Amino acid sequence: MNIIVTANYEVLSETAANRIAEVIKNKPNAVLGLATGSTPIGLYKKLVTYNKENLIDFSRVTTFNLDEYIGIPASHTQSYRYFMDYHLFNHINIDYQKTHVPNGMAKDIQAECEAYDEMLRGHGGIDIQVLGIGNNGHIGFNEPGSALTVGTHVTELAQGTIEANSRFFSTREEVPTQAITMGIGDIMKAREVILLASGITKADIISRLLEDKIDTYIPASLLQAHPHVTVIVDQLAGQLI
Ligand code: PGA
Repeated sequence: MNIIVTANYEVLSETAANRIAEVIKNKPNAVLGLATGSTPIGLYKKLVTYNKENLIDFSRVTTFNLDEYIGIPASHTQSYRYFMDYHLFNHINIDYQKTHVPNGMAKDIQAECEAYDEMLRGHGGIDIQVLGIGNNGHIGFNEPGSALTVGTHVTELAQGTIEANSRFFSTREEVPTQAITMGIGDIMKAREVILLASGITKADIISRLLEDKIDTYIPASLLQAHPHVTVIVDQLAGQLI
């Protein structure tokens, strides 16, 4: 695992955006794996700027998002589809049909999961996967546990995740408790991974992630076995390493 400690969140976001720009430059029809959460917002802002400055052309790019809540529609302001449209897709020259987010309102959720993996395979897999990390070490919504699932699946959100996410909803009861998430196998198959973490609250999990062992109770630690991972942190998130 490579680790880059940047001076601050701005530089972290720029470092990640520059790597994505490079990937698209080398492969204009690249497949990006994208994440939601507070951490990649700065990255998406940079990508929008680069697109406006004609430094990145998204016209042939395809994207797959990691996850989506079950039970809230795409039009809901807290859905991950809404997040992606708001922060990125509405502002770049991407073909909207090439942007994929699991459908958390699908009638047959199991079929939706299978179709998502099938579509991923059909596109030849992910060239570069962007990840955040939960305080509990989750990636996507692959929560800590004694076993981790390989493919896209339904997951019950951990209590801590529900609490962390409740800041975006008016009441705790509104926070979805289930999600569709790409599995650990989907993430591990990406040809390259960049994992971003910012702020003091991530310092502990980042130091644990970098220990030389794999622990299913820290799902991100599986990335130790991936051949091309770069962890990009700011000073605060990197302060215990
Ligand atoms: P955050 O979420 O970027 O909002 O900290 C990360 C995550 O839970 O994966």
